[in-house]
Amino acid sequence: MKLPWSLILALLVQQSALAVTPAKRSYHTHNYYVIEHDPQAGASLAEISRTLGVEVVEQAGQLLNHWLVRAEKPKLTSRSNDHDPVINTYNDLRARVSAIDHAHVAPRSEEHIRARALISSAPYLSRQIPRQRTKRAPPPIRPPGEYSSEAITERFGIEDPLFSKQWHLANDDYEEHTMNVTPLWEIGLTGKGVISSLVDDGLDYTSEDLKDNFDADNSYDFNDHEPLPTPKKFDDHHGTRCAGQIAASKNQACGIGIAYNSKVAGVRILSGPISDVDEAAALNYGYHNVSIYSCSWGPPDNGQSMEGPGYLIKKAVVEGINNGRGGKGSIFVFASGNGAANGDQCNFDGYTNSIYSVTVSAVDYKGLHPYYSEPCAANMVVAYSSGSGKHIVTTDKGKNECTQSHGGTSAAAPNAVGVFALALEARPDLTWRDIQYLCVENGRMINPEDPDWERTAHGRLYSYKYGFGVLDAAKYVTAAQSWNLVKPQAWFETPSVQLGNGTMDEEEHYSGGVFIGPNGVTSTITITKEMLVQYNFEALEHINVKVWINHTARGDVEVEVISPMNITSVLAKKRTGDRATSGYPGWMFMSVKHWGEDPVGDWTIRVTDQNTPEYSNGTFLGWNMKFWGSTIDASRARKYTVPRVENVLPVHIEAPPPPATPTTTKVLPKPTAHLPEDHGNAPGENTKPAFPSGTPHPTADVGWFPSLSNLVSSQKWFFGAIGAVAVFGLGMGIFFWRRRKARLANYTTLPAGDDVSMSALSGRSGAVPAGSSRPTRELYDAFGEVSDDDEYAEEGTALRGAHPQDRVSAGIGFHSGFLDDEEPTTAQGTTIYRDEPGPSHERREASPSPSRAASPGASSGASSWEHAS
Ligand SMILES: *[C@@H]1O[C@H](CO)[C@@H](O)[C@H](O)[C@H]1NC(C)=O
Ligand SMILES: *[C@@H]1O[C@H](CO)[C@@H](O)[C@H](O)[C@H]1NC(C)=O
Ligand SMILES: *[C@@H]1O[C@H](CO)[C@@H](O)[C@H](O)[C@H]1NC(C)=O
Ligand SMILES: *[C@@H]1O[C@H](CO)[C@@H](O)[C@H](O)[C@H]1NC(C)=O
Ligand SMILES: *[C@@H]1O[C@H](CO)[C@@H](O)[C@H](O)[C@H]1NC(C)=O
Repeated sequence: MKLPWSLILALLVQQSALAVTPAKRSYHTHNYYVIEHDPQAGASLAEISRTLGVEVVEQAGQLLNHWLVRAEKPKLTSRSNDHDPVINTYNDLRARVSAIDHAHVAPRSEEHIRARALISSAPYLSRQIPRQRTKRAPPPIRPPGEYSSEAITERFGIEDPLFSKQWHLANDDYEEHTMNVTPLWEIGLTGKGVISSLVDDGLDYTSEDLKDNFDADNSYDFNDHEPLPTPKKFDDHHGTRCAGQIAASKNQACGIGIAYNSKVAGVRILSGPISDVDEAAALNYGYHNVSIYSCSWGPPDNGQSMEGPGYLIKKAVVEGINNGRGGKGSIFVFASGNGAANGDQCNFDGYTNSIYSVTVSAVDYKGLHPYYSEPCAANMVVAYSSGSGKHIVTTDKGKNECTQSHGGTSAAAPNAVGVFALALEARPDLTWRDIQYLCVENGRMINPEDPDWERTAHGRLYSYKYGFGVLDAAKYVTAAQSWNLVKPQAWFETPSVQLGNGTMDEEEHYSGGVFIGPNGVTSTITITKEMLVQYNFEALEHINVKVWINHTARGDVEVEVISPMNITSVLAKKRTGDRATSGYPGWMFMSVKHWGEDPVGDWTIRVTDQNTPEYSNGTFLGWNMKFWGSTIDASRARKYTVPRVENVLPVHIEAPPPPATPTTTKVLPKPTAHLPEDHGNAPGENTKPAFPSGTPHPTADVGWFPSLSNLVSSQKWFFGAIGAVAVFGLGMGIFFWRRRKARLANYTTLPAGDDVSMSALSGRSGAVPAGSSRPTRELYDAFGEVSDDDEYAEEGTALRGAHPQDRVSAGIGFHSGFLDDEEPTTAQGTTIYRDEPGPSHERREASPSPSRAASPGASSGASSWEHAS
């Protein structure tokens, strides 16, 4: 038996290695799983497959030693996941092995030894359940007025009929407010040789504007498992619009792309549910040749969700960073989200707050902050999009179609992608971190009077709304031309500080912690020069702050971190709509505001809530920090790997693999829609700080509850570690000893490795509060977009009431959402992603208010994706 099996396997492997496109999935007949296989641990993949009763399909995307396997669906399907024979077999095996391991007298039968080998060889198993991702941002209603840009038209011999309306390229009213691309065209930079991948809802490669620049080889449809990303649903126009912004040809169709001689590939994932394994493969698709992945979607922008990429997706992102583009790293560009009017912030989205993504927010035609564009400390730059009466004019689905109503942060991200394509034509050797450095150093200042600007310790200006400023193509690429490449990345993570003996296990059960009283809680972590040397760490780039907070109303919690140089990063500001009771189970925030700052000294976290204990209260259990930067000695650089378990408190190194559970509970709605209908017309602003300091924040020196803060803040990591040793005894002692040893050896083993940004919270925690009326899915815009014609919009409006079932709150009934989506003929998609304008910021009770329920964002999908809770 052994021989045939390995033969078959060899054939399969061979085939998958050669395969150009993923095998077609058949979710209705089979259950799919991903197994992580450790070939050194004693059991072959064939043996594991045989034991679990699965067949190997292929390697999971680009993830080495991760295998997509499948088993026929059990005949009698029960609703409960308990009846998944594969998961059950795996869990039984694990349970047996761990029972043996814990027994003092370990039976050593052959069977037990095999079982242990099997489990160690397959440390990770997860069922793949398709779920819907949401696009970000809908567009506009009113066509912009007439403008002309004769000079440019003549100079470049432009015949594209709508070029004169592409104000983001030539703005006749506010001359300085453009992407400033034309000086680069003048020197012949047009994106030649650069491929961008639109990870979106399809790409109309039959469009006159795109057909010559379409790259079929690196395109794929992960929704329907076909080679080409053909738009099929009525609202599959988002990817095409974004692609047009980047690479619309200079011809007689519509307008022109920023990098109009570059290529675009389409990877279709937003037109139906997809599983983690496919999302992971999508983000690596063609990654040797594709340079940039344009992602205008994310978790819902409803101001209530807190979600990030799951384990496989985080691994894929790191895989792209480490091995994409010949090792220079894939460039991931994410739209910051359209939920600002809902109080949403991009630090609650694990894709946008990942250190690996360039997070792009929007500014409008007048250079003002549009009310939909989400602020946060992870924002890196802004690019132009809808607002103050204008939208983005770009290619649309169809042979020779154009839209004058594209917008949202969804349209800001592709403008940035176009600029990066020009930069990579000029400097193909830029690594993913060079791309980020160039953003940090070359943002163009706008609205200097805006109180949201603050000077960083390095001396740059930073704003939660604008990041380091507008991405100005000419300035950026000129700087890129003479840029010295940065040294490889270095990082280290501090041990976790536990407050009041706070702990959290893998099941997210909290214990201990310090009550968050009227004065909040502060705690300090001290970084020394020796630590930097030890970790081969030279210059600071991103910081991560991971927190464990148990609270009855997550949106009431505010978190900020103050650096040794007294620079404050607001990480979480009040989110009125977020009443989730799941707290922050090891959620990781990110800030770019400390870029270039000397990290040595005390980093102080402040956690406060709204000081209304009768309504909501909670405890702060612990936190830690991760510092990312450049190496001192490039030859000692090491690549980062994603730990399987990263959110338990205290962080431990050799975490056992998580029990295999079907991933049902982790529903990650994708995109963020929440772009209100008037996102293009509403006036922007430049007079309000994104996070006003109105909330009663005690200052550092005054008013902090002294005993508490002493208790807590004096817990430098070092003492924290000692305390932990005392508390946890010898086991922990060994842990630290090992860690130390590892550090001396090569600084690889950080206590908890880390991750792409958002922690492992994906499912359960991320979820929408159970009683909330508007759960989930939103696109950044993808579908969100309204079509150009007013009647279309009208139709959307009219249909809003048409799906009463959608108004029912969330949580339950999970399939309704995506079923609706599947109906090509409803206009529902049109409305789904749009956010209602002027959402109420009041505290919402569990029962939806009528107006809210009727609003587009409220309805729909939400319920489907997020049954989690
Ligand atoms: C990627 O580029 C290499 C050469 O650089 C080429 O041989 C290969 O065919 C390309 N692959 C795809 C899928 O375009
Ligand atoms: C933490 O645990 C230790 C040992 O169990 C105990 O002595 C100490 O009082 C606890 N501290 C708090 C704040 O609960
Ligand atoms: C730190 O900065 C704040 C303003 O952000 C200021 O009020 C405070 O005085 C500063 N503290 C020190 C010690 O410089
Ligand atoms: C915390 O809130 C709960 C209700 O959410 C309340 O019953 C409890 O008394 C509050 N605790 C404090 C200390 O106010
Ligand atoms: C914290 O978590 C525990 C267990 O998960 C729960 O029982 C408790 O009510 C939570 N809330 C607070 C405020 O401690």
